[in-house]
Amino acid sequence: MTSTKNVSLADLDLFEKGDPWAAFDELRANQPVHWDEEDAPNHGFWSLTRYHDIVSVLRDTETFSSERGTVNLEELDDEQIEARKSMLETDGIRHRSLRRLMQGEFTPRAVAGYETFLRGLTASTLDAAFAKGEFDFVADVAADFPIRVLAKMLDVPDADIYKLIDWGNRMVGNDDPEHADVLASSAESEKYRLLPFRSPAALEVFEYGRMLADERRGTDRTDLVARLVNQVPEDGVPLSERDFNSYFLLLVVAGNETTRHTITHSMNYLIRNPDQFALLKEQPELIPWAVEEFLRLASPVFHFRRTAQRDTEINGQAIREGDKVVTWFASGNRDPEVFADPYRMDVTRSPNEHMAFGRGGPHMCLGNALARLEIRIMFESLIPRVDRMVSLGEPDRLRSNFVNGIKRFPVRVELA
Ligand code: HEM
Repeated sequence: MTSTKNVSLADLDLFEKGDPWAAFDELRANQPVHWDEEDAPNHGFWSLTRYHDIVSVLRDTETFSSERGTVNLEELDDEQIEARKSMLETDGIRHRSLRRLMQGEFTPRAVAGYETFLRGLTASTLDAAFAKGEFDFVADVAADFPIRVLAKMLDVPDADIYKLIDWGNRMVGNDDPEHADVLASSAESEKYRLLPFRSPAALEVFEYGRMLADERRGTDRTDLVARLVNQVPEDGVPLSERDFNSYFLLLVVAGNETTRHTITHSMNYLIRNPDQFALLKEQPELIPWAVEEFLRLASPVFHFRRTAQRDTEINGQAIREGDKVVTWFASGNRDPEVFADPYRMDVTRSPNEHMAFGRGGPHMCLGNALARLEIRIMFESLIPRVDRMVSLGEPDRLRSNFVNGIKRFPVRVELA
């Protein structure tokens, strides 16, 4: 096994090859608060790999702020912070006020209203994929599904769905040459330093969101965009143009990639664990529990990060004010202190308090009930129809240490 000195979670090769797991295990066991060097202009970061350390950082928002960036490791100057700030990068009362604008739309009860629509959508998605016999599970099953739900919530035409997918791919794939317009690590991306993910795709998202906002301002429509432009946050400070843009962009990105990758990872795990697949076929009432195990194993978001607001310590390690602290959810989800035999797929695992959506802090995923519903309905629909799913090749992974993404996954279905 590698020594902790040589482990770097900034090394994207590790993630593209699909095996950061040995590195997580090594750090969790031997150096749970580990300093990762980075190339200039970044200064390095602390990697937290143990479940309980991660929870305590997410909870302590006074010490560990979201305001200096959360979704990747890039160090932002004040101008970038101001230009790119979304709800995710906001602490305190303003964060709560922004979150409450959309909270009612994403409760378990509110999203249950989409169940019939989701069942119809899943059935037609699976009909089309299964008719092919052999297909790419990502393109033909997992990719369209979450975005179609979001399109319905945003009330945008089906014809625009591929634009939404494309924008998500280009932004989240900002370290992957196949997806990025401009690699986030390249000098050329300096031109886009004031945009989320340093991606020019963000400009297209903003323009699209503005068009929708103009159409819906002052109307009594009930879609997410109308709700966003026609409400004042409870702190009394109206949404600025930047606030609207970044909120809209966050909804488009957050609701798209993550659920897609969870569905694809889960299929891959079920293929590799035929006993678990057989169990769910025999006892479909276990699927809601299985969804939690799918989320734990998939861990579609590798990390988020915070910045220390003062000198402090984590688990005995001194942390200086201004240091970046990275919470590796994917590692916490494999922590043997919390999950017995963590690499084993056990769809009956209970309790299963995974941290795929974060855990315990105020930024815990707003869309978690929707994501859970989508994943549950997908597998409740798929499992009874399939006798066996066969992998025709290894999943092709996204080059990213932020999103645990799968770009392609060729499969063959044998129908029941
Ligand atoms: C399997 C699917 C998903 C996963 C794994 C996931 C994961 C996460 C994580 C890890 C966070 C940050 C937690 C933290 O910092 O404490 C987050 C925040 C967020 N997610 Fe999700 N997410 C998923 C699906 C969705 C969906 C479907 C939506 C809605 C369209 C959504 C909307 C959001 C929003 C708006 C935030 C920011 C919340 C805040 O700052 O208060 N997510 N998500």
